[in-house]
Amino acid sequence: MAAATPLSSLRIAVIHGGPSAEAEVSRVSAAGVAAALVKKGHDVTRFELDEALPGKLVHAKPELVFPVVHGTVGEDGCLQGVLELLRLPYVGAGVLASALANDKVQAKVCFRAAGLPVADELVLRRDGSIEMLAERAFGLSASLVVKPATQGSGLGVTLLPDLESARDERLRAALDAAFALDEAVLVERFHRGREITCGVLHLHGEAPRALPPTEIRARAADWYDFQSRYGKGGSEHLCPAPLGPLTTARVQEVALGAHRALGVRDLSRCDFVVNDTEVILLEVNTIPGMTPTSLFPEAAGVAGTSFEDLCDALARSALARGVRRVNAAAPFPT
Ligand SMILES: Nc1ncnc2c1ncn2[C@@H]1O[C@H](COP(=O)(O)OP(=O)(O)O)[C@@H](O)[C@H]1O
Ligand SMILES: [Mg+2]
Repeated sequence: MAAATPLSSLRIAVIHGGPSAEAEVSRVSAAGVAAALVKKGHDVTRFELDEALPGKLVHAKPELVFPVVHGTVGEDGCLQGVLELLRLPYVGAGVLASALANDKVQAKVCFRAAGLPVADELVLRRDGSIEMLAERAFGLSASLVVKPATQGSGLGVTLLPDLESARDERLRAALDAAFALDEAVLVERFHRGREITCGVLHLHGEAPRALPPTEIRARAADWYDFQSRYGKGGSEHLCPAPLGPLTTARVQEVALGAHRALGVRDLSRCDFVVNDTEVILLEVNTIPGMTPTSLFPEAAGVAGTSFEDLCDALARSALARGVRRVNAAAPFPT
């Protein structure tokens, strides 16, 4: 009889790239995850997220899949659906939670239902002239954030804290920029505050655990845009965030609430704006950046888990969960 495969030598497929605007970012994360898993003794192959992927996975027969892809197709439930079809265990959120988290409009419906604090918003579609849409947006507030419903990394996001009128050129430009990336555009009330993010680690069979929150201080721009996120020296991370015990506990409570509200598993990272009076939840990322110096791994490190141990624990979590049995959908969390 063949001996059981030791956990230290799993055949793991790491998925990266894909059609989203964040493909290059994901390749950097995937290289980090692959290197960490190899250090743990696993047999790792990296695969590009493209139409040849299902065939390649059938041929390679990995024991589990570790998706390290952001945005469209990779993080929005599509890849997860393919992995369900192929009956391969995979790290991270399932189909529904991935789809909900990836769509900021749908995610906010769930957040509100769970009583979580979010910014007021308006959802716009291209059903009128840009002047009309700008009028509707300005009707919400003179202090706005415009963002595409399903992008990430600050792409297509414009902060407009000081609009004077609906005819402000900047508002029209912001709507054009967001509509260039998506059919649906979220216009949110702008909340001034500190940029905070908080990870949740939720390994199979364990209770979800909030990591210490991180404060991000953008350096490359006056807000946390693409350049501040990925440019060298673009931002400074303070983990644990200097928030005080009460605000820290509140951020962690909301992060856990958001993770549960969408039904995420393994890991997630919530973004917030926090000021003296409010903690505002912006979004949940189900596949956060995973280079060794990215926000989630950094916070896990502060909590005492090295990057290698984190990647290994996530792989083991996926393996322990296994594939979903037919007609055994996980109950939606309440
Ligand atoms: N309502 C808001 N008030 C103030 N700042 C915001 C608001 N929404 C977004 N931002 C800023 O824009 C950034 C990107 O927004 P977010 O919703 O996290 O989308 P993504 O990171 O997916 O692009 C945030 O990190 C924050 O700096
Ligand atoms: Mg964000």
